[in-house]
Amino acid sequence: MYQLPDLNYTYDALEPMIGKRTVDIHYNRHHQGYVNQLNQLVSNLKIGCNDDLITLVKEIDQVPMEYRDKVLYNASAILNHNLYWNSMHPLHRMPTGKLKEQIESQYNSLENFQKEFMKVAKQLVGSGYTFLVMDKEKNLLIMNTSNQDSPYYYGYTPLFTIDLWEHSYYLDYLNQRSDYIEHFFEIADFTLASSLYEEN
Ligand SMILES: [Fe+2]
Repeated sequence: MYQLPDLNYTYDALEPMIGKRTVDIHYNRHHQGYVNQLNQLVSNLKIGCNDDLITLVKEIDQVPMEYRDKVLYNASAILNHNLYWNSMHPLHRMPTGKLKEQIESQYNSLENFQKEFMKVAKQLVGSGYTFLVMDKEKNLLIMNTSNQDSPYYYGYTPLFTIDLWEHSYYLDYLNQRSDYIEHFFEIADFTLASSLYEEN
């Protein structure tokens, strides 16, 4: 059975940038919903699925065609949300080590990288995510994906993300998604991104 991972902070810890009710509903209804749907799908359809969600997404071709889209959608949604919750923290920690060096090499400065990330995020049409990813040569890329598409599916390793679905911000920002994107960087946490970049 797939499980909802614990949050590293309380529901109200990201206020005022992201409200307690938003975190509660997003985590306990939306994220939990994707976990439940994947468990139900795997259980009802009696298909063998890899316990490791990253491998499951990368090797989605092994899932029977008739179940593939739904399994891919929900597995990717869980991975995307796992990363999203780990991309924020009230302590707001910036990139360190080799990730910091690579960002400065490719984007000139952390400040400029942040501007680029926000620019790409504001270009997303509809629901989706903006990711900081790395390719197999450890080059960085800022990319948007639609709906629940995962960068793993495209051969990239996601390091950091912002969820741009309305359920992420609507209670706090109504239709002002650009305000949410700008305030998001006040609680951005690159601790996991920095370790992923070193490890992979
Ligand atoms: Fe979400």
